[in-house]
Amino acid sequence: MSKIATVTIDDLKVDLPLIEGTDNENAIDIEKLRAATGLVTLDPGYKNTGACKSAITYLDGEKGILRYRGYSIEDLAEKSNFLEVAYLIIFGELPTKTQIEQFENDIRKHTLVNEEMKSIIDGFPKHAHPMGVLSSLTCALTAFNPSVVNVANEKQMYDAICKIMGKFLVLATWTYRKAKGYPLNYYDNTKSYVENFLRLMFQLPTEPYKVNPVVQNAIDKLFILHADHEQNCSTSTVRMVGSSHAGLFASISAGVSALWGPLHGGANQAVLEMLEEIQKDGGDADKYLAKAKDKNDPFRLMGFGHRVYKNFDPRARIIKKAAEEVLADLGVNDPILKIAKDLEEKALKDEYFVARNLYPNVDFYSGIIYRALGIPTEMFTVMFAIGRLPGWVAQWKEMRENKEPIGRPRQLYIGESFRAFKEINER
Ligand code: SDX
Repeated sequence: MSKIATVTIDDLKVDLPLIEGTDNENAIDIEKLRAATGLVTLDPGYKNTGACKSAITYLDGEKGILRYRGYSIEDLAEKSNFLEVAYLIIFGELPTKTQIEQFENDIRKHTLVNEEMKSIIDGFPKHAHPMGVLSSLTCALTAFNPSVVNVANEKQMYDAICKIMGKFLVLATWTYRKAKGYPLNYYDNTKSYVENFLRLMFQLPTEPYKVNPVVQNAIDKLFILHADHEQNCSTSTVRMVGSSHAGLFASISAGVSALWGPLHGGANQAVLEMLEEIQKDGGDADKYLAKAKDKNDPFRLMGFGHRVYKNFDPRARIIKKAAEEVLADLGVNDPILKIAKDLEEKALKDEYFVARNLYPNVDFYSGIIYRALGIPTEMFTVMFAIGRLPGWVAQWKEMRENKEPIGRPRQLYIGESFRAFKEINER
């Protein structure tokens, strides 16, 4: 007998079915609520509302668990690589050797970006934020690849996926090259995906570029840790935009814009700016923790807190360890790392943070590694976008394959009742 939830309003009783997911996840199916009661639910920020069923990523915020297609983030970060994890997230299984080689070769067919895209990026001022440039360029890709707007079958879907995986990485690095006034690099199909990221970013035509394996491994791991995170703000945006049957590029472009916000992916840049501000102000962690707790002070401890994790963000644990290893390997002694650890140690013992389950999230330590790897602060959120691309693609694909209806939430209207029109001389 399936379980039910009963809504009682005066003498009206409505039974709503409970739907059981994996690992004892349960949901109340309210699809019939309005027809049965005339009422809608209200849930600002969707803190209690599931927008869809998904088989891609599992989070347990209380236990600090994160799994992609059932595999733990700890195992994947330690034993896999970013392109393999991208394949897993998008297609649902860890690939065989043949499958991953085929996927990489199919991506390589689309790593050349139309030369006319250069005139679009030239239209931006050098100081333009790279996330705004990346969102614009991603949407502009549709102009050169109109066929990806309609993915009517599996082959068209696969081609669109290989195109965005190949071109997005190039465009993301072009935002940095443009800001530096450097020539735009081309993807090298003889090199791996993550090695290409480093070359596209840093290789100059005037001198040889040597990839540091410590840096490449750290970047690969960071991309894995950012690859998906169920229905976060930017992923929900990608699904929402895609639900109108807008194309994949336009949907990803919208996801880039949502990720840019400092409460979301933009937090990794905001964390570094916060740590630098604290350092400039004498490194007094207690002063800034007090500001974060002061309701009259707009200051927030960036990189702390999470909508879902009410325990440690498992990604933060891995990134913190990687930060220590990478800085040691590279011989970088960054005082910012000490300030971050000081803040974390004090916050984890502070009643305000403990009572609100505020722990370091994925963004708290990532910027410290990026800085040690030579990535400029303004590019931190672009790094997040490159890592999150497979997740956005997988969630968009799932939404389209499940033939989900166009997203259109209801509301509770609290404005004026009917009013007769007033001529201007009567107002
Ligand atoms: C990401 O959703 C995802 O999965 C996102 C992400 C992903 O992989 O896609 O994990 C990536 O976006 C990580 C989060 C990065 N953002 C930040 O680090 C920005 C700082 N954090 C906060 O702004 C906040 O914690 C959020 C936005 C992350 C979560 O906000 P919620 O769930 O809406 O919680 P809330 O704002 O209602 O806060 C609850 C309480 C409030 O205090 P009270 O009103 O109860 O007294 O906690 C306080 C808040 O004031 N609070 C903080 C705080 N975060 C929450 N106080 C000080 N510093 C903070 N960082």
